[in-house]
Amino acid sequence: MCGIFGLITNQEIDIGKITLESIKRLEYRGYDSCGVATITDGKLFIKKDAGKIDEIHKKLKLDSFPNGSKLAVAHTRWATHGPPTKINSHPHVDCSNKIAICHNGIIDNFIELKEDLISKGHEFKSETDTEVIAHLIEEFMNMGLDFKEASKEAMKKCVGGFAIVACHVDYPNYLIVVRKESPLIVGIEEGKTAYCASDIPAFLPYTRKCYVLNDNEMAVLRAGEVEFYSLQEEKKISKELQEIEWSIDAAEKGGYDHFMLKEIHEEPLALRKTLKIPKDEIQKFAKILVNSEKIYITAAGTSFYASLAGKFIITRFLGKYIEAIECSEFQIQLEDCMENNAAVIAVSQSGETIDLIEAVRWAKEKKNAKILAITNIVGSSLTRYSDEAIVTRAGPEIGVAATKTYSTQVLTLAIIALEIAEILKSIPDEELEKYRKALAKTPDIVEHLLNNDIKKLKKIVRNLEKSHNFFFLARGISIATAKEGGLKLKEIACRFVEGYSAAHAKHGPISLVRKGFPIIFIAPPDETYERLVGNVMEFKARGGLIISVVVESDKIISELSDITIRIDQPASKYFNLFTPITFIPALQLLAYFYAVYVGLNPDQPQNLAKTVTVH
Ligand code: G6P
Repeated sequence: MCGIFGLITNQEIDIGKITLESIKRLEYRGYDSCGVATITDGKLFIKKDAGKIDEIHKKLKLDSFPNGSKLAVAHTRWATHGPPTKINSHPHVDCSNKIAICHNGIIDNFIELKEDLISKGHEFKSETDTEVIAHLIEEFMNMGLDFKEASKEAMKKCVGGFAIVACHVDYPNYLIVVRKESPLIVGIEEGKTAYCASDIPAFLPYTRKCYVLNDNEMAVLRAGEVEFYSLQEEKKISKELQEIEWSIDAAEKGGYDHFMLKEIHEEPLALRKTLKIPKDEIQKFAKILVNSEKIYITAAGTSFYASLAGKFIITRFLGKYIEAIECSEFQIQLEDCMENNAAVIAVSQSGETIDLIEAVRWAKEKKNAKILAITNIVGSSLTRYSDEAIVTRAGPEIGVAATKTYSTQVLTLAIIALEIAEILKSIPDEELEKYRKALAKTPDIVEHLLNNDIKKLKKIVRNLEKSHNFFFLARGISIATAKEGGLKLKEIACRFVEGYSAAHAKHGPISLVRKGFPIIFIAPPDETYERLVGNVMEFKARGGLIISVVVESDKIISELSDITIRIDQPASKYFNLFTPITFIPALQLLAYFYAVYVGLNPDQPQNLAKTVTVH
């Protein structure tokens, strides 16, 4: 939530243009206001306002910086404290107008700090927690500290999860960068330019060399150099330089109208890459699960639905129950009853969701749990708090609605499941081979849909144009697909959607069904199919508009349906188990085309952010 960016250089480069392009690449993190600041001739220049970056750029020419600017700090906001207004937009300044600060996250003790600073004569302009930091640094500087030392002391006083970048007019040769829980990466072009950002794509066109800041670390960025400090231990530290493998193409739209559409089209490749995760990484996970008496799986949002699908697949071969629990509920529900030494599978595309980080830290510290992380981001907080981590190979995902990260998460969990089957010999070798072959085919099935069915899916949304409420129903493993498919439509097309068990829907939801009410049934030919036929008939009898997602050879449910989406895969139990991977792209596309059809931007769903670093 919120994206921050900073740059300092000794080169003759177009800082304004780079800064604008960089915050555009962070816009998925929040887009209700934005701002940029620079220093020239001993003065701070700030441009900021409420609205989307393009709108503000039209008014303020965000890329036009004064001559001689050699640094920038910038921000794109997802409002937490104070509504999205010009005054609440970042950067924020101190009383003397010398310090400019951009911030992501929340300062939990800001009220207490603010009251204290007001009593010392500081005047606040905004309702944000961020402004406290600028005044706090100013306060320490009034006591005689330089900008670096004052920033360190100020950040030590702040409680919460945050990342900041700050500059000071009297210290124009460096930027201060601090991380506590919210993500922050430093990019470096040695001897020339240093960058910092909430996420790698911001500076990826300029450098592939980076350092990942850990919690409670501060960096001092100078043109082409960086030094690191620990906030707690008062000492300089050294960090390992990392090379980013992503291409900038992968982080930009590449000819598609939206990132979401591009990322759905990248699913076959992402799945193929994820299938190549080395066996020894998978084995470590599988062995821990085989040897653990109690196993939990936890996540938020889309990752939670991937977890529901993955838990279903794993339990098939593991023969042990896995408790799936949303990360925000993890500690509160398990405080008094969680066993020691359990295994916790934590799933998160960003690896930064604060509720998840808190859940795993608590489980590790208080219950001695083994944390097994599945994430898409190398070096994310989640990987640091985990005992073992598998990084999915989805590549950068910019669209706020998760697509390829979802299917690669389910695939990873499925690969682990088959590894468990091999270790435990829970099925004959020939069967295991058939499951393996079916799993290896998942990218081809998705690719076939993308190559052949786009037009048909686009057409379907016209039949649904006037609908504002939807049910997505299924049984068994497909409940995860129904929930995730429904969530996509809810998120980006702003429709009310209930993703639910088809069996359970007669205990309440069915009372809403009238003529033309759209119900999407996820109906692979598995052991739930016959009973699902009964559920389809119940809804059809009440006038519901039946849309089904079935396999190519389906006869019964497609016959009962008004609209059928066919997925070209065999009607076989080996393939059925992996339908959370092969059926979901059709639902992602349906949501995408629906959003576009009703005039919404699928890449910027209202009120949402891709990485949720607040509780
Ligand atoms: C936000 C995003 C969702 C995502 C969820 C969990 O709500 O909008 O798309 O599924 O966070 O994020 P994570 O990074 O932990 O998978």
